[in-house]
Amino acid sequence: MKDQLNSLRASTVALTEQTFDLKTLSDSRIRILGRKGELTSVLRGLKDLPIEERSAVGKLANQIKADLESLFDTREAYLRDELERTQLALESIDITMPGRRLPLGRSHILNRVTQELVDVFSGLGFQLAEGPEVEIDYYNFEALNMPKNHPARDMQDTFYFSENVLLRTHTSPVQIRTMEKCKPPVKVICPGKVYRRDADVTHSPMFMQIEGLWVDKRVSFSDLKGVLTAFAREYFGDRLALRFRPSFFPFTEPSAEVDIQCVICGGSGCRTCSFTGWLEILGSGMVDPTLYKFVNYDPDIYSGFAFGLGIERVAMLKYGIPDIRLFYENDVRFLSQF
Ligand code: DAH
Repeated sequence: MKDQLNSLRASTVALTEQTFDLKTLSDSRIRILGRKGELTSVLRGLKDLPIEERSAVGKLANQIKADLESLFDTREAYLRDELERTQLALESIDITMPGRRLPLGRSHILNRVTQELVDVFSGLGFQLAEGPEVEIDYYNFEALNMPKNHPARDMQDTFYFSENVLLRTHTSPVQIRTMEKCKPPVKVICPGKVYRRDADVTHSPMFMQIEGLWVDKRVSFSDLKGVLTAFAREYFGDRLALRFRPSFFPFTEPSAEVDIQCVICGGSGCRTCSFTGWLEILGSGMVDPTLYKFVNYDPDIYSGFAFGLGIERVAMLKYGIPDIRLFYENDVRFLSQF
């Protein structure tokens, strides 16, 4: 029986040394040390031994049991270590490798230009105001002194949801909405999308405008000239020449269109300025007193001016972009230049 025990230990030493995975090791442990295992079956012979041998063999058996357990424990610890080492090796990162670059987005050129324009006017004391793109006839036309059948509506055909609800054709309705809500002084700048039935190299059915409005006591035409000159010089360059041309808008009286010296040829004449040396950038004028009736302002106390400019046009001039459609085609080769 001593021999049996010793050989069980010897064979277990060999077995554990040749076991390379934890599952097999644990199966072997059960087969040898479990309740119905090989050790138990050897020990069953103990009761048949002569009484004087029993205690010595019993002692040996306990010793061997402890040895076997420690053999399994040691091997198990070793295999676990090994497993962890291979896993770490597999998951190791080469921190000297160059990283993968993530493509970085940026804001659209039109949003950038809008922000730049808003910044310039903020510097002149204007506050941001916004209005809805789906507008009602009253704000888009009626309260801007363009009653039904007014010929000026012809130039601003748009997309109608119903007879009274439409996509706004300009940002001017925000003037009325602002004056309706606030008593003077009001000094606001209102960027946003507008819509018209129009499409060619310089017109798009959807485009962007910025509206400005300043109403207070004693706001005069020279304030209009001062603000717009300051804006144009700040945005296009401080030596830029500017001219105010008489014009007509139903919601301003008097009205003026503002031209800047051609930024492409400097005024000598080129295709962009149709060889005039001038580029039209905005419409403006003193708010027609008729509008004040719609918003309950007293025209004897208050006066003001308004202006509207096309953001695409400003962006095209500033960056020399020849075709308005480039803004909306979402070609990354174009957009990523700015
Ligand atoms: N709303 C006009 C348009 O889209 C532009 C405009 C002209 C706005 C004169 C104004 C203004 O505020 O005073 O054609």
